[in-house]
Formats: sequence, C-alpha cells, structure tokens
Amino acid sequence: MLSIASIFLSVLLAGASPARATCSPAILGTNISITNGPLEAGFSSNGLTLVSQPISVATPEFAVAASSFSGNFTLLKVTNKALALTNTGALPETLSVGSASASAQSWAVQCSSCVSENGPPGSTLIGEGCLVVSQLDQRCLNIGLSTTTPVGSPVTLGNCQAVGSSINIYIAA
Ligand SMILES: *[C@@H]1O[C@H](CO)[C@@H](O)[C@H](O)[C@H]1NC(C)=O
Ligand SMILES: *[C@@H]1O[C@H](CO)[C@@H](O)[C@H](O)[C@H]1NC(C)=O
Repeated sequence: MLSIASIFLSVLLAGASPARATCSPAILGTNISITNGPLEAGFSSNGLTLVSQPISVATPEFAVAASSFSGNFTLLKVTNKALALTNTGALPETLSVGSASASAQSWAVQCSSCVSENGPPGSTLIGEGCLVVSQLDQRCLNIGLSTTTPVGSPVTLGNCQAVGSSINIYIAA
C-alpha cells in the first residue's frame, strides 16, 4: 500500500519534471512553418533576423535539409536555400550555408507528439508541443506570443525550460 508520504513524493516528482519532448517529427525534405499559437517564425524585411508574423501554414518558411549532426536538421530559407537558420550567439539569423559552424546551423526538433493530421487548408500538422534546439548551445527558438510580445517582434533564443514546448510544426501540403 502506498503511504501518504510516497504519494506526496510522486506528485512532487511529477510536478518537477516538465512535459518531456519525446519524438522528432518526419520533416526531412519537407517545407515547414514553425508556429506558436497564432504566430509563426518569419523573416524580417532586412532578411537576416526572424520575426513573429501571423500564422500562414500553407506558405512555408523553411526547407528542411539534413545536418551533419545525426537526427538534427538544417533549416533553409525556402525562397533562398543558400541561407540557413543560424545561431549567431545573440539572435537566430539567416546566414549563408557554411558561413558558421555546423553546430550553429543544426537544430534538433523535439516534440511531445509526432502526428500527421490535417492542419488548416494546405497544411499537415506534423509535430505538437515542440522545442527547436540549437546544437551550438542547446538553447531554444522562442517565438513570443502576441499576448506578451507584439507581432513583428524578433524571434529569439532562450533557455528551453523557460521557453517551454509550445511550438507546433506544419508541413505545407
Ligand atoms: C518546397 O518549396 C520550394 C519553393 O517553393 C518548392 O520548389 C519545392 O518543391 C517544395 N518542396 C516540397 C517537398 O514541397
Ligand atoms: C541532435 O544531435 C545531437 C548531437 O549529436 C544528438 O545528441 C541529438 O540526439 C540529436 N537530436 C535529435 C532530435 O536527434
């Protein structure tokens, strides 16, 4: 029989461990949108940094290529595949492929749930509750929610625990 103490202990332990990201969605070779609620990661008009923009999952932003880190991805700008999402140490930026270290251009996509469901028209939901983790420093892409950060704010990198697994990934169908 479980003692009251051990029940309390297991509740405490369950509360202490955050929802674990367990799967990597099947996105290699596809075009994707990286979204957080009603927003997605898009490109700023100066072309280098990323900004949040209203979700448009039928219009993908990133073409997903292999990375030299097995199971990780290189996220290329869909309209110019010479540019890859790069961890510059400060912000994520789109820089020429190979202009930074492989780890700075490698991203793990870790999701709570890997699915293949119809999304909004023209899209398939492929990953839910995801983290997009830089192999350079294990920080995570952070797309601010419009409730706290205005649309058009920079997409940043943050501590993964603080950012939370809130990203959903859509393939443009
Ligand atoms: C990805 O988008 C590019 C540019 O629009 C297009 O040429 C390519 O066929 C798309 N790839 C897939 C797998 O849909
Ligand atoms: C990404 O690469 C790292 C380093 O090689 C590896 O530990 C990790 O398992 C990879 N991530 C995924 C989701 O495969």
